[in-house]
Amino acid sequence: MAHGLLKGKRGIISGALNDQSIAWKVAELAHAEGASIVLTNAPVAMRMGEINKLAEAINAPIIGADATKDEDLEKLFTEGQEKLGGKVDFVLHSIGMSPNVRKGKAYDDLNYEWYKQTLDISAMSLHRMLQAAHKKEALAEWGSVVALSYIAAQRTFPGYGDMADAKALLESIARSWGYHLGQSQKVRVNTVSQSPTMTTAGSGIKGFGGFYGFAEEMSPLGNASAEACANYCITLFSDLTRYVTMQNLFHDGGFSSSGVTQKVMEKFMTE
Ligand SMILES: NC(=O)c1ccc[n+]([C@@H]2O[C@H](COP(=O)([O-])OP(=O)(O)OC[C@H]3O[C@@H](n4cnc5c(N)ncnc54)[C@H](O)[C@@H]3O)[C@@H](O)[C@H]2O)c1
Repeated sequence: MAHGLLKGKRGIISGALNDQSIAWKVAELAHAEGASIVLTNAPVAMRMGEINKLAEAINAPIIGADATKDEDLEKLFTEGQEKLGGKVDFVLHSIGMSPNVRKGKAYDDLNYEWYKQTLDISAMSLHRMLQAAHKKEALAEWGSVVALSYIAAQRTFPGYGDMADAKALLESIARSWGYHLGQSQKVRVNTVSQSPTMTTAGSGIKGFGGFYGFAEEMSPLGNASAEACANYCITLFSDLTRYVTMQNLFHDGGFSSSGVTQKVMEKFMTE
């Protein structure tokens, strides 16, 4: 049921690859809540063509942008404002990729060229995006930026590899921009640390089924779905959360605060 929470707002949503993507669900829900949206993704992802279905369904133009290229991002915010008819009220950063993880390189055997790419694509891209938006004076006062993160920024998870370092950097960049954009434009910047979710990026991680299942049993509420994550993002884009900024917000069914649960303990009990 829609509540009109984003009525009249304009947003840029990155990262919708297919209908499993968290960004896809956010875009659908933001549209249902009354927002006008521009979709963006890397040209290589756009060639897969799935994003066109979403664009049609929610009447959103697509602007291709490689999030590691400043000129693409500047074009995104210039053209984005033209297409939306004004400054941007919200931005979703939903971008992550590690060549090391994808090619099975373990943390003790990283390829450093790929490591740089991991950090550039998955973390520095948030800095680049916000710097481009700031230079183009594209963000509306009281706007909201959300980037998606994972608890591997704080704790180690085998198989998550160099993405853990990228997420730690991403969260720090969000805090730093939160300060600067808060001061200059009353724009808030937060990260949402989401449960393991069955998406293309998620299932690309070695042993993903293991950490999905473990998190499910370690969370009193169970894992949060992509749809639930989208609901949470909508609240952060709405005017109801204007003073929440520079935070890493766990959206994980309680996983981050659980020491152990009965379900997990039972696996080790002998009587
Ligand atoms: N799936 C999970 O378990 C999980 C958990 C917590 C956080 N996250 C985060 O959520 C975000 C979205 O991932 P998802 O799970 O929806 O998977 P996804 O694979 O659907 O989305 C990742 C997106 O990143 C885009 N991308 C990659 N390189 C890019 C580039 N150079 N420029 C622009 N876009 C680029 C891809 O095209 C894709 O659309 C990521 O930041 C991911 O780390 C995912």
